[in-house]
Amino acid sequence: MALIEQGGLDGRSLLAEDPDHPGSLGIAISEAVMMAVADPQARYALGSVLNHVLQQTVIGEEALLQLAKVGENPDVLVGCTGGGFNFGGLSFPFLREKLAGRMNPTVRCVEPAACPSLTKGEYRYDFGDTADLAPLMKMHTLGHDFIPELIHAGGLRYHGMSPLVSHIYEQGVVEAISVPQTECFAAAVQFARCEGIVPAPEPTHAIAAAIREALQAKESGQEKVILTALCGHGHLDLASYEQYLSGAMVDYELPDEQIATAMRGVPVLD
Ligand SMILES: Cc1ncc(COP(=O)(O)O)c(C=O)c1O
Repeated sequence: MALIEQGGLDGRSLLAEDPDHPGSLGIAISEAVMMAVADPQARYALGSVLNHVLQQTVIGEEALLQLAKVGENPDVLVGCTGGGFNFGGLSFPFLREKLAGRMNPTVRCVEPAACPSLTKGEYRYDFGDTADLAPLMKMHTLGHDFIPELIHAGGLRYHGMSPLVSHIYEQGVVEAISVPQTECFAAAVQFARCEGIVPAPEPTHAIAAAIREALQAKESGQEKVILTALCGHGHLDLASYEQYLSGAMVDYELPDEQIATAMRGVPVLD
């Protein structure tokens, strides 16, 4: 039986109803929970947005050691944010150093302009999935009913942000910006030509932000150490590059009314 008939959601049923349905990570999580519930042998650990998966700090610890070897500290750290997993892994060790007063980098989350949960979402309790199966979390959210446009950074098409990243954003410990996808792919092509590595669409957001920062530093004549991490390669995303290079890629503006509509489904708690 389709999961949707059991109170869940599944991608195939949604596609049968609407062949152009863009899907979302929230729907994928609902489907995974339903499959785990239906199979006594299965267990499901929700990744990315939950706080415990943000502890992959080996990335940041290693970056700290690498920078120490060349006697540098970052002035700016940028990371892409979908649920917060790779950003937490890179930034938390640097935030520890910053909060201890040992360095003072600007730490910035970079999200898609079409799915701006930190920069345009509200900080409230919401479900982590579309069918209300995952626990309520206090987080920045565009509403669990929000279906982002079909941008190429699939891993950033998520309505919420991990509670830890949301909290430090609320506290002003980190900043956030959003970037449109054509700027991201322009940065990705520049990066690939310089470094010989084709980035996944998700980290192109951080690369675009790093390039913005470098250009500003060039203009102001300030020397800056800018740190980012490449959280995935784009070998399976060449169709996205083809779209960009052929000029077919478009940017999406997210109207405030669309956010307001999705926010109506967010539970109101006393
Ligand atoms: C390569 C890559 N980077 C980043 C993300 C975004 O997730 P997070 O913000 O949790 O790191 C994803 C998610 O699928 C991904 O595949």
